[in-house]
Amino acid sequence: MYTTVQVHDKHFIPYLSEAVIQEKIGELAAQINTEYAGKRPLFLAILNGSFMFAADLFKQITIDAEISFIKLASYKGTKSTGQVLTAIGLDIDLHNRHVIIVEDIIDTGKTLHSFLPQLHHQQPASVALAILLHKPEATEYPLHIDYCCFSIPNKFVVGYGLDYDGLGRNFKEIYQLQG
Ligand code: XMP
Ligand code: MG
Repeated sequence: MYTTVQVHDKHFIPYLSEAVIQEKIGELAAQINTEYAGKRPLFLAILNGSFMFAADLFKQITIDAEISFIKLASYKGTKSTGQVLTAIGLDIDLHNRHVIIVEDIIDTGKTLHSFLPQLHHQQPASVALAILLHKPEATEYPLHIDYCCFSIPNKFVVGYGLDYDGLGRNFKEIYQLQG
């Protein structure tokens, strides 16, 4: 049943149903199928949060396409570079490839903003962003989002891959923090 859920100490209310999510993903996939026909795009899904979105999106892709999964880990760089992001598991040569980054949510935008320049070093033919959720009110780092399922208010959400302190990723729906 799709009702209020408790995750750890917090209560979450139903926000985006399974049907709504799947319908939107279908629309996004149709657009990608048209725009990337003959380009053999490489979907690059960022773990952990995007695993469900990436799987459902990829199932709706009908053109030749590849998928790979990476994790972004941040470590302290030098004083001038500050926090540096490294991609774990990036074992495919991106040179001349059409890359579609698959991410669960853009909040401040900091994660992707710091990671994208590293991708461009490998000289891909193109890089596009396919994002499940975007919080425009929270976004501080400018990003061009090519494919976005839902723009949402600046409230914490869980489910469909997104977690609150490790739990809630298994929900088929997306829930919003109550209050
Ligand atoms: P930035 O700020 O770099 O952050 O765009 C993206 C990462 O922040 C996490 N995040 C959330 N996780 N519910 C979550 O479960 C949320 O409402 C939420 N907002 C941000 C998430 O890990 C994402 O990759
Ligand atoms: Mg994430």
